[in-house]
Amino acid sequence: MHRTLRWLRNIVVTLVVLLLLFAAAVYARAEWILRRSYDEPLVSIPIPTDSASIAEGGRLALVHGCRGCHTNTLTGEFLVDDPLLARLVAPNLTASVRRYSDPELVRIIRRGVRPNGRSVWAMASEMYAPLSDADLGRILAYIHSLPEAPGPDPMLRLGPLGRFGITVGQFTSAAALVRETDSLTAAGASRARESPTPRAPTWSGHPARSATACGSRGSTRSPTSGSRRVTPLSSLPTSSRLARRWAAAS
Ligand code: HEC
Repeated sequence: MHRTLRWLRNIVVTLVVLLLLFAAAVYARAEWILRRSYDEPLVSIPIPTDSASIAEGGRLALVHGCRGCHTNTLTGEFLVDDPLLARLVAPNLTASVRRYSDPELVRIIRRGVRPNGRSVWAMASEMYAPLSDADLGRILAYIHSLPEAPGPDPMLRLGPLGRFGITVGQFTSAAALVRETDSLTAAGASRARESPTPRAPTWSGHPARSATACGSRGSTRSPTSGSRRVTPLSSLPTSSRLARRWAAAS
């Protein structure tokens, strides 16, 4: 009896030690991924100041979904608030435009990279990589025109499920998704060059716009021609889907 108890105790101790080792490994691996630094240049773009451009920027912020995640007034809100998964804020952009320089904002939005080199998470940067300087300039002009209002600051705290998801590749950083999109776009462009049939025109010529405006990233129909159009973005696990997955899991 004594012996059986000793055996049981040894098994329990071994299981607890293995569990702790596993948890430590998941934590360390997720931390390593979160701290990864991305080298992306700062780019200056013109920011218009006229009222027509500012009004158009407000419209673009709506159709591109900024006002969906960051709220209609762009003052931000918790996107995920679940201690097991994550506590993640889509921050108050009326404060962000006063916190960062315009080239830093451009790099966050189009490349998913913060001033400290780390990636943002669940921000839809891979959709915005193809945004033209003119359109992004108008969006920034609109955000600059808003008075600073109260709203949540950036917050990204991962719970055990969030860390596990990052470790096994279920959740991918915005900067990594932008790079995946770059390579898919390059592959798509070279396929298009080889293709003997002319490609159907895309609405405004950029995939993020047609993707958000249709309300479905999976759409392969071009609104201008009705013919089939393959967009590399539609095949990606995008940040917004990630946000929805996080929201659904929480
Ligand atoms: C799918 C939801 C989503 C959409 C759409 C989205 N964002 Fe974000 N954005 C986020 C989240 C979440 C963060 C915070 C990420 C983090 O902390 O890692 C963020 C961060 C940012 C930041 C950094 C803010 C700071 O103070 O650190 C800027 C700037 C930003 N977004 C601008 C935009 C703009 C402009 C658009 C539209 C062109 C947009 N976002 C669309 C979710 C979104």
